[in-house]
Amino acid sequence: MRLGILISGRGSNMRALLRACADPNFPATPALVISNEPDAAGLETARAARVPTRTIVHRDFQDREGFEAALDEALRASGADLVCLAGFMRLLGDAFVTRWHDRMLNIHPSLLPAFKGLDTHRRAIEAGVRLAGCTVHLVRPAMDSGPILLQAAVPVLDDDTPASLAERVLAEEHRLYPAAVRLMAEGRVRVIDERAVIAGATWPSGALISPST
Ligand code: GRF
Repeated sequence: MRLGILISGRGSNMRALLRACADPNFPATPALVISNEPDAAGLETARAARVPTRTIVHRDFQDREGFEAALDEALRASGADLVCLAGFMRLLGDAFVTRWHDRMLNIHPSLLPAFKGLDTHRRAIEAGVRLAGCTVHLVRPAMDSGPILLQAAVPVLDDDTPASLAERVLAEEHRLYPAAVRLMAEGRVRVIDERAVIAGATWPSGALISPST
């Protein structure tokens, strides 16, 4: 399976995917990394890993349709068959999302459907939840929604700050995203009534509990 990875910044999840792909036993390979921000640090990481990169800046287009048409064209030209949103900070429109229906994943730093959107860790701490975590899901037009493939949970500690919680969650993100891509690449994911069903899953199907808890 060929991956098109979309980033906007640091790119640590992208790096985790590239590292996984470097293992000859991993069933996916990177086709292209696209950033909508020219200064994204992740671009340098991708170049260093000798992965093709493109910078497609949304500000250079008159409207979202034009920007997304350029994204789509670049992805198709690269031969990508799975799009991985990895800290990509633009909302994607219906046409693009429909075109990549069940072929586009996102990683989000909360246990969805709780805490969609930004600033998830501060909101989780303020809400007093005991478990936080991250989710990999198939992308649907509504923000941070779609069939959930995998989730990982971590504890929220009494003295956590948004930064300390983010660090604990991010470590899980880096495990979770490659695991979800593997499931897709192995053809083990089916969507039934908008729920993801994973073939051959043994307990804990789709749930990873941090070993550090
Ligand atoms: C991650 O927390 C991811 O879950 C969210 O944005 C952040 C991106 O971080 N969607 P990175 O660029 O992958 O380091």
